Formats: sequence, C-alpha cells, structure tokens
Amino acid sequence: MNKSLDTNGLTIGLDVKYFKDTEIYNRVKTNIYFKTWQMACHSSQVKNPGDFFSFSIFDQDIFVLRGADNKLRAFYNVCQHRGHKLVDGQGSKRSIVCPYHAWTYDLEGQLKRAPNSDKVKGFDISSICVPQIRLEEFLGFVFVNMDKDAATMDKCYPGVKQAALELCPDIESKQFAHMHNIAEGCNWLIAVENYNECYHCKMVHREFAKGVIDPESYRIAPFGEGKVLRHTSKAPKNNDKAWMNVGDTSYGSFFLWPSASIQIYPGGIVNTYHWRPLAVDDTRVYRGWYSDDGEVDESLQKVIDLDRDTTFAEDLELIKNVQRGINSIGYTPGPLIIDPDGSIDSELSIAALHTWMREGVGELHENH
Ligand code: FES
Ligand SMILES: [Fe+2]
Repeated sequence: MNKSLDTNGLTIGLDVKYFKDTEIYNRVKTNIYFKTWQMACHSSQVKNPGDFFSFSIFDQDIFVLRGADNKLRAFYNVCQHRGHKLVDGQGSKRSIVCPYHAWTYDLEGQLKRAPNSDKVKGFDISSICVPQIRLEEFLGFVFVNMDKDAATMDKCYPGVKQAALELCPDIESKQFAHMHNIAEGCNWLIAVENYNECYHCKMVHREFAKGVIDPESYRIAPFGEGKVLRHTSKAPKNNDKAWMNVGDTSYGSFFLWPSASIQIYPGGIVNTYHWRPLAVDDTRVYRGWYSDDGEVDESLQKVIDLDRDTTFAEDLELIKNVQRGINSIGYTPGPLIIDPDGSIDSELSIAALHTWMREGVGELHENH
C-alpha cells in the first residue's frame, strides 16, 4: 500500500523526519544530490578557453573549465598532491596552479609541472590528472553529475528540451545577466516544496498572480516519464498589471528533480532557481536571470526587482516559518489538497515530490 495514503484514502504530507533527521539528510547528500544532475552555471559564464566557474555541492568543491580545445569539463576542485583546493570563485586561467606547492595542471586537468619532481625516481607526471565529473549542456545551462553511471539529462528529464524550445525558441542563445542568492534558513525540501505549489499564490503572491501569471490557468503537474514538474499558465489577462510586455506569449517552467528549475516568463524572460543544502536546516537558493546580450536593461531590471521584493521575499518568510513549525511538538502532517481537476489550488506536485524524496532516501517500500 502506498504509505502516504491514510485509511480514508487521503494523501498525507511527509513525516517531519524527512525535514529534520540528520541520517536522512546524509542520504539526501549521497543518494540524491550526488547522483542527480545539478545546475552549475550558464554556458555564457565560461565562454572562452581557460574560463572557469567554481562552486560546492554539500562538501564537494567542483569547478567547470573550458579547455584549450574549447570543450567544457567539470572537475573535483582538489589538487592531486596533498589536497589543496585548486581554484576559487570564477575567472580565466592559462593553466591551473595549485596555491600550496605550485603543482601546475593544463586546461584539460593533466599535471604538467611539479617542482623538484624530476629528482623523484618513479614519479610519472603523465599519470596524474584532476578527476573529472560528468557535465552536460542543457538549454544553455551547464549541469554536472557526480555519478559516473547516471543517465543523460535527456533520459532523466525526457521531453523538457523540446517543450522549453517550443516556449522560447532562442533559449539556448541567451546570456547570463544577473544572479542573487541567499541562505534561506530552512531544510532544502521545504524550499523546493514551496516553489512547486501555487496553492499559496492567491493568498500570498498577489503581485505575481497579477503580474506574471493568470491564476485561472495556472497548473503544476508531473511532466513526462522523468522526475519533472511542469508549471504552465497563460500570461496575465490584464496587460496594465503585467510586469512585462507579454505579447502573445505564455508562462512555463520546468523543475528538474531535485534542485533546479528553468523558467520562461511571459515575454520570453528566462530565469532560474537552484537550491544547494548548507545544513539540515539551511539552504542557499540561487536566482538567475538571462537576456539576449547578457545586459540587464531597464525592463529586465524592473522584473528582477519586483520578483525579489515580492514573490521571492514572500516565499522566504513562509519557508522560515515552516522550518520552525516542523520542530513544533504540536505538528503532525496534514492531508494534501489533491484537486482532481488540477487547479492552481492543488498539491498534486507536493505528492510527487514526496514520492521522489522517499524513493531517493530508499524508504519508498519500507514500513514504519
Ligand atoms: S597540495 Fe597542491 S601542490 Fe601541494
Ligand atoms: Fe511562493
């Protein structure tokens, strides 16, 4: 029996242990985050040979680097001598020189120089490389996966590329324009759940519900065979209230389990969310914006500011509040609102996230 259903057939929310148990949090790291595709950056941020972009997923430091052969690769950010970190932040390099003892790697990760190593009998410089991890470019974004055996992104998220291209034919040529991030003070799944339901939109996101979407047509539902949630909506009905010039476009976003979403706002404005857990009760969210030329013009700035000051800020308050609630002795998870008509006021997407979470931490078929 599906253990999320109670005796009345209601779908009950996840037990609080999934949001606060450190053992489960460790499994989220090794079984979910280390085995799925993670958004790294945008291809335009590593445009030229030597360009690199570094980041961390849990305790793993990683960097993306464009080689002299123009190919993008991802590496563990660790020197193969005595383990110092190789690069920080982002920038451009002609070679990778470790800041500790100056071991020097080329742009393909091959060790080229190790001071005084010629005195060491048996030292084979050609056998030492920085270990690579999987990398794919997907709709102009760079994703990495620490699992060597992971399926390709097209297999994990089938149909997404095509559907996103239908909504925004030039999405792959967009350029990185702006990103802000903040530590949200809650478990990662609280943040991801909040993002993936709009049952709270009419109550909380009054500006979003007028400026970006048409609430009557808004839907969030599992998409295709993969672990994807697709958000769809017509553009706002009232052009005067819309945040942007909508023309005849519509709204769509694609949440790619477990941690990234690619959104296309009316008017073809491409933007992203991705989430990286910092601790069992803290998560950093990254909010990215993209444009045709990498510039933030006045109209895009208006959308970025409105989003940050309304939707983004409003959600931050909600999820911090829920983080406190899951620690309450008085809280037991309630039934989800699964609307068979799939309206904006449905939590069908939450039920899907809960299934993926149980499956991810290996508890789907376990009994309490
Ligand atoms: S740790 Fe990198 S050169 Fe020694
Ligand atoms: Fe929200």
